[in-house]
Order: sequence, then structure tokens, then C-alpha cells
Amino acid sequence: MRVLVTGGAGYLGSHTLLELLGQGHEALVVDDFRNASPVALERVRALSNGGAFGVERLDIRDAPRLVEAARAFRPEAAIHFAGLKSVGESGARALDYWDVNVGGTVALLRALEEAGCGLVIFSSSATVYGEPAEPRPFREDDPVRPANVYGRTKAAAEAVLRDWAAAAPGRAALLLRYFNPVGAHASGRIGEDPRGVPENLMPFLAQVATGRRAALRIWGSDYPTPDGTGVRDYIHVEDLAEAHVAALARARHLAGAGGGAEAFNLGTGKGTSVLEMLRAFEAVVGRPLPHEMAPRRSGDVAEMRADCSRAAADLGWRARRDLRAMVESLWRWQSANPDGYGTDG
Ligand code: NAD
Ligand code: UD1
Repeated sequence: MRVLVTGGAGYLGSHTLLELLGQGHEALVVDDFRNASPVALERVRALSNGGAFGVERLDIRDAPRLVEAARAFRPEAAIHFAGLKSVGESGARALDYWDVNVGGTVALLRALEEAGCGLVIFSSSATVYGEPAEPRPFREDDPVRPANVYGRTKAAAEAVLRDWAAAAPGRAALLLRYFNPVGAHASGRIGEDPRGVPENLMPFLAQVATGRRAALRIWGSDYPTPDGTGVRDYIHVEDLAEAHVAALARARHLAGAGGGAEAFNLGTGKGTSVLEMLRAFEAVVGRPLPHEMAPRRSGDVAEMRADCSRAAADLGWRARRDLRAMVESLWRWQSANPDGYGTDG
């Protein structure tokens, strides 16, 4: 298929782009590189042996240019990664988050309408669920009640996509709710390259291991979890990339059956605590990593896990890679590229 990939130079987008090319799809990356490096795409090009993709450097809210790019490429589907993703900064930059994450989604859908494309795969987040009401994995029909600005913009974009899909027959929107994507491509050539001090556990741990950060602070050791630290459902970025390819087939099927919107959790269903992750990382690196206990981080919950049975049934997909593969791949990437793509001074 011809697939327009917004945010295709970013962490999840670059891995998915490589997977798409490997499966014989053609792609057009649309990215303004505000949070990505062109080097990522050079490396995808090399890893895919000169893969069939073009690149348009533009802001998805630049409607005339986006329409022009979409009309020229004539996509059969779009995968929409472009967005702002930091829960921490979303409160202070609320309007930017609404503008890019919701306004950007509307702009994309208008451009797809102009180009006659009716299939969209959207990067949503487990954050749309907010606090778990019961101690069990989230299901897709659980209530959506996000507790922060970032999560509210993702929930609103989901609503926009549902309305767009319902507005005409044959349109399909797949809302993929990622849990905690981590790790890197097995080659160690592409990976996550956060700017500034990482907020998330895995990139922070990786930078502690290279010596760039002094010590990991474990946010909370008094949660009602087996070892007192927060439990999350980490998913290997390559599994996540494969899920997007499976989602393309599902979207086409759904459109053929009349269309509509469907949400899918993407995780492993397994929970890992911060301490377990630290131990797994130490085992791969082969030495202890400095860490200290610290108070809870505001907005965090004790445990989040995905019920992935809908993805298994309807996408025919399940995560295949384990925690060790996540940590090993991250370490391969980080040790070979201690400064990421070299864009972070
Ligand atoms: P990322 O920042 O690495 O990738 C996003 C890409 O979009 C970047 O390349 C950035 O330059 C681009 N972009 C941002 N705004 C743009 C705009 N207005 N116009 C054009 N390009 C723009 O982030 P990621 O980790 O790859 O996440 C991709 C998507 O998945 C995001 O929508 C994010 O909210 C969502 N998501 C990510 C995670 C995660 O843990 N990484 C979890 C849940 C959901
Ligand atoms: C966060 C976002 C979520 C987003 C996800 C992307 C919040 C509230 N949620 O999830 O919207 O989809 O990132 O991966 O920010 N931890 C430490 N020390 C650190 C960093 C993290 O102990 O330096 C702990 C956290 O308290 C948590 C776990 O590690 O228990 C995972 O944290 P993180 O990687 O930031 O992800 P989430 O908070 O789950």
C-alpha cells in the first residue's frame, strides 16, 4: 500500500517506517523535525537498502502544503504519529498540545479527504484511561477519562477520528492505545533520542548506564505493588511497529465492511516494576547502576497493564519480544550512539 506517515522521523515512526518498507509498502514521511533528526531517516534508508519512501518537511497544520503533498502521493492509508507527547510539559503548553494534537489531526483528515484516502491508523495512548477503577488490565471499552492535558488531547483526537469515520461510508479509523513503548531496532542503528533530560524511565536508565546521568531516581517505593515501585506494561518498539502493519490490513477490512472506528490496546499484558526493570538493565550492562528512592511523581499511578485480547483476535497480532530483548536492544542502541543522532548538544 501507499502509506502517508506523519511523524515518520520520530521514535515510533522511524521503526514503523522500516517495518513498512520491509513488508513491501511504499511511504511518504511528513515531519517538521521539531523532535527528530534527519539522520534517523538516512539510517532507515540504509537499513532498508534504499527503501521506497519520500520525505516532506512540513508542519501538518500547514494545510495548503499538506494537501499538495497528499494529492501528489495519493496515499491509500495514513499512519498518524505526529504530535506532542510529554505529559509533564502539556499542562504549561496546553494550547500548543490542543493545536498540534487535535488541530493537526483535523488538518490531516481534511488533506486525506482531498486525496481520496479513507484509512487512518492513529497513535493514541494508554493515558486516555486515566486512573484504573479496579486492579485489572485495561480493556478498550473501559471509560476514557484522562487526567492530564496530553491525555485529553489524545482522547479528543480519538473523538474527531470516530466522527470522521462515521461521516461517510467506507472510512476506517484505528485508534491504537500504546502502553509503554521501549527498546530499539535490533541493528542498534535507530532508537529513541529524547531531547534534554529524559522524563521516561527507559531512556533515563540508558543514560545512567552510559554515565551521562548520575543516578536513577525511583519515583515512589510505597505503591501497593509487590515491591512498592510502579508497575507498567512495557512493549518492544519492534512489536509495536509490527502492530501498525497488522492494523493496515484491519483498516482495509473494516472499510470494506462499511467502515467505522475501533480502539486497540497495544502492550504485552505483563507488568514490570521499576526495580525489576533496573535489575534487568543491570544484568544486560553487567554492573550495578546507581539509583535512589524518591517520593512519588505527581500524576503517576501504581499499575497500568493492557488487556490485549482484542488486538490478538482482530489484528491477529501479539507482542513476541520479552523484557530482555527490550533492554538488550536499548543498550545496543545507547552504547553505540551515546549522544543519540548527535542533535542534542
Ligand atoms: P516523537 O516525538 O519521537 O515523534 C513524533 C514526530 O512528530 C517527531 O518526528 C516530530 O518532529 C513530529 N512532529 C511533531 N509535531 C509535528 C507537526 N506539527 N508537524 C509535523 N511533524 C510533527 O514521538 P514518538 O515517541 O515517536 O510518538 C509518536 C506518537 O505516539 C505521538 O503522537 C505520541 O503522542 C504517541 N505515543 C507515544 C508514546 C511513547 O511512549 N513514545 C506512548 C503513547 C503514545
Ligand atoms: C508516561 C506518560 C504516558 C506516556 C508514557 C510513554 C505520565 C504520567 N505518563 O507513562 O502518558 O504514554 O510515559 O512511555 O507521565 N520512573 C522512575 N524514575 C524515572 C522515570 C520514571 O521511577 O526517572 C517510574 C515512573 O514513576 C513509572 C515508571 O517508571 O512508575 C514508568 O515511567 P515512564 O517511563 O515515565 O512512563 P509512564 O509514567 O508510565
